[in-house]
Amino acid sequence: MARRPIVGGNWKCNPKSKKDLDGLIANIQACDTSKCDVYVCPSMLHIDYCSDKFTNGAMVTPQNCNFTGCGAFTGESAVEQMQDMGITNVLIGHSERRGEFNITPMETNSSLADKLRYILDAGMTCVFCIGEPKSIREQGLQAVLLEMDKQLTLVYRMLDPEKVVIAYEPVWAIGTGLTATPEDAQATHAGIRKLISDRVSPSVADAIRIQYGGSASAKNAPELSKMPDIDGFLVGGASLKPEFKEIVDAIS
Ligand code: G3P
Repeated sequence: MARRPIVGGNWKCNPKSKKDLDGLIANIQACDTSKCDVYVCPSMLHIDYCSDKFTNGAMVTPQNCNFTGCGAFTGESAVEQMQDMGITNVLIGHSERRGEFNITPMETNSSLADKLRYILDAGMTCVFCIGEPKSIREQGLQAVLLEMDKQLTLVYRMLDPEKVVIAYEPVWAIGTGLTATPEDAQATHAGIRKLISDRVSPSVADAIRIQYGGSASAKNAPELSKMPDIDGFLVGGASLKPEFKEIVDAIS
């Protein structure tokens, strides 16, 4: 099945100054979205400034949300507040919140299932991130897929291809300049799709889009884009540069 490509730019906790936003916005605005969906994940503090800047259809996508709605939840951001700003898409489960990089885990598979349910019940769409640390990759593909199965177990029943995109990010490739080889990335994506086929249905597995993330760049995107089960990219560092457009062009 031909799946429409999708590429996200995750700015993470950047830029330091609002004065740099217009330059980053230009990198996203330069993308041709006629053949590829594009979204951007600004820092929460910059979402309002960015929310009406993209005339090419790029979706402003918060990097997280809560699953309790508005109220006495200090430090949280609610889906309802996002909808009030015209936001329709939310990213959750990034490994930098799941507890990699030696930070205290802020997410569990259970809390992420609650968040996904809340997002979908609110009528929004979601980018659901999964990925494995180096210690698991070193045990081989089957160990990686066992971990992916664990991370998807509580959300399999919610995987509606029209509403959920999966972002697979090998944690050891994030921000390291190390990228999974096209063959390794393809094998993992195909394995994730097989898990969904077995646990949900072949039709959902065939339709759901699975992005690759982890040092994606204008240099490696062309080869990765040739892999049949890679439907796009979740881009960190390179989304802060003009080369982001080249990554979108590569998969389009
Ligand atoms: O969310 C995307 C991010 O984790 C990948 O970062 O810098 O390796 O492209 P980077």
